[in-house]
Amino acid sequence: MLDPKGRVAMVSGAARGIGRCIVERLLESGFRVSAGVRASAQGLVESDRLMLHRYEAESLDSARGWVDATVARFGKLDALVNAAGISAPRAKLEDEDETALDRMFAVNVKGPLRLIRLAMPHLRAGGTGRVVNVASLSGKRVANENVGYAISKFALVALTAEVRRQGWPHGVRATALCPGFVATDMTMHVTALPREQMTDAADLAVLAETVMLLPNNASVAELLVNCRHEAML
Ligand SMILES: NC(=O)c1ccc[n+]([C@@H]2O[C@H](COP(=O)([O-])OP(=O)(O)OC[C@H]3O[C@@H](n4cnc5c(N)ncnc54)[C@H](OP(=O)(O)O)[C@@H]3O)[C@@H](O)[C@H]2O)c1
Repeated sequence: MLDPKGRVAMVSGAARGIGRCIVERLLESGFRVSAGVRASAQGLVESDRLMLHRYEAESLDSARGWVDATVARFGKLDALVNAAGISAPRAKLEDEDETALDRMFAVNVKGPLRLIRLAMPHLRAGGTGRVVNVASLSGKRVANENVGYAISKFALVALTAEVRRQGWPHGVRATALCPGFVATDMTMHVTALPREQMTDAADLAVLAETVMLLPNNASVAELLVNCRHEAML
């Protein structure tokens, strides 16, 4: 395993939910973390190993500013976790209004794509760069009417594959983390399953940390994580 001490990771969507749990887990294991937040992040306090920086996924300038500030502060970048994402408002097959689809694509696909593009030179430089894209089981199968969300998560899985293809000779490894229902704000409205049966975001953080520390010759392309039985998933 790689030594987490001193490694530098950027995490988007760091204020709450899965991103927040990943930030906390990485800090516990010794990483230096640059947390991308839109506004305040209650309970996250800057320290010598934690910087907070504004990140708005729909803005290219914001992505550039955050990557530049991270490298300026810590001197390098070893890992990028794309956890920021949205699933609402839903984008359905026969919706004439494409606003929801466009926003989903902007936040869930173009946001990660831009951060990866900006981070790649730094990730290559270290020889053990890591990208974790928080996709979804909705990036592996279509199971509800929010097809815009599924389209965006399938695209994020494809993006992960391209990072692996381009990054491989330079030691960059990427993983698509694909959970089903996770007990975060995003699933507050879900009634199909009691919350206590949903996946705990802290358990996903353990998986994210693990793939970020596995050596270059033990790379995990996708992690499919379910809280209930679905055929093949
Ligand atoms: N929860 C699930 O069941 C589930 C399942 C599979 C995959 N996922 C994926 O996991 C990731 C994290 O979701 P979560 O469950 O932790 O949801 P969450 O609790 O709703 O958190 C979403 C995070 O994304 C950030 N975000 C949203 N729009 C943004 C934007 N335009 N720019 C920058 N940040 C933005 C939010 O920031 P603010 O705090 O500023 O709003 C928040 O930190 C998402 O990509 C989601 O699609 C979730």
